[in-house]
Amino acid sequence: MKNENWKWKTIIEPFKIKMVEPLGFTTREEREKILENAYYNMFNIKAEKVLIDLLTDSGTGAMSANQWAGIMVGDESYAGARSFFHFEATIKELTGLDEVIPVHQGRAAEKILFTALNGKGKYVISNSHFDTTKANVEVSGAIAVDFPIKEASEFEKYHPFKGNADVEKMEKFIKEKGKENILLCVMTVTNNSWGGQPVSMENLKSVYELCSKYQIPVFIDCARFAENAYFIKLREKGYDKMPVKEIAEEMFEYSDGAMMSSKKDAMVNIGGFLAMNDRKLAQKCRQLLILTEGFATYGGLAGRDLEAIAIGLKEVLDENYLQYRLRSAEYLGEGLKKHNIPILNPTGGHGVYVNAKKFFPHIKPQNFPAQALCCALYLEGGIRTVEIGTLMFGKRDEKGNFIAAPMELVRLAMPRRVYTQSHIDYVIEVFAHLAKNKNKIKGLEVVEISEVLPHFTAKLKPIK
Ligand code: F0G
Repeated sequence: MKNENWKWKTIIEPFKIKMVEPLGFTTREEREKILENAYYNMFNIKAEKVLIDLLTDSGTGAMSANQWAGIMVGDESYAGARSFFHFEATIKELTGLDEVIPVHQGRAAEKILFTALNGKGKYVISNSHFDTTKANVEVSGAIAVDFPIKEASEFEKYHPFKGNADVEKMEKFIKEKGKENILLCVMTVTNNSWGGQPVSMENLKSVYELCSKYQIPVFIDCARFAENAYFIKLREKGYDKMPVKEIAEEMFEYSDGAMMSSKKDAMVNIGGFLAMNDRKLAQKCRQLLILTEGFATYGGLAGRDLEAIAIGLKEVLDENYLQYRLRSAEYLGEGLKKHNIPILNPTGGHGVYVNAKKFFPHIKPQNFPAQALCCALYLEGGIRTVEIGTLMFGKRDEKGNFIAAPMELVRLAMPRRVYTQSHIDYVIEVFAHLAKNKNKIKGLEVVEISEVLPHFTAKLKPIK
């Protein structure tokens, strides 16, 4: 995972640190109590009680000196702020899309887009919807259907582009349901739900050609577009010499629109956008924007946020940064593999996904093995992670019993430019300890749970 200008084995953090934040040290005894009070739900734990926070890479990154400088020059005018035009021009240049709409974060873009599309009863097809995307599709009355390639679920086997969509299955589905019943196609890059795995340029192109043939618009969920672009550079034939900025621009050529949670690859703490070529649709979206988010030139953000996003979107395409970024996840993955921790192979762009089903064969899916691993990591090491398994994606029968999700994963998401190699070494050491004691770890059961996005608020307790 080296760029051609770097001849050394050690890939270093491509930054130096100017401002620091203390970490939250606690004792095991304290953490036992904290877990109980949090109902064994990671979202209920106070951040100051977390030592290494790998809950998400969303909004948790460190901004650069340049971005902080941008914060100071942000234009806070209600309408027509200079910072909006900087934001708009940056996104137009990157995506080639004409209509740019700022929003406060990714799910606001989803809510506005699917409300404007008004596709009750119609299908939204995707390589894989992220959970909030799926929820927003469904709240709008449409139906979200995923088409990951079969290799996505073969966790141990290497495949360079496990984020790809199964184009053949997609076409079969379009023919079966009728093209008039397909509202939209969403390509999520990288594919977060299946391991932060990249989508190849070839796949983006094939999906776009397929959808164009049936007049189905394609939107890219580009939260992690730069990580995806760098994977293309490293792994796809013909792209190794191309600057990553050009690769990113080409990715957007295979789309009619894009939505972004800028909290990821724009390296900011809040923000997002919707972009598209369809002017009529953009008008509808702007009306909805004004109703709940804010005027069209700020969309729920401050001018300084728009400025920081514009700067971050350029900074993220620095190849020294991207090399370090993908290498960090790979390094963590290599460390875990040395201790026989089953991980999803290869490691993703924004983190490492552990296969809890394999790690804890003694815990039934109904007892949330991945959530049990999250709890064990917190208890032993103060490490916070997130479950992607039956708690997040399980369905329920009429009696409310859980039907298992197809995977039981724990995501170790890495905030951008926040932790150093020794933090990661520590995480590996805690895992090594867990591996030796894993048979003692028990599953969980539900105390209370909601219908929509249950994992955020679920209350759990250990099984007897
Ligand atoms: N799309 C993708 C691919 C995402 O990963 C996320 C958020 C969203 C949309 C929604 O964006 O949070 O700004 O409203 N993912 C975060 C995560 C929450 O932890 O993976 P948002």
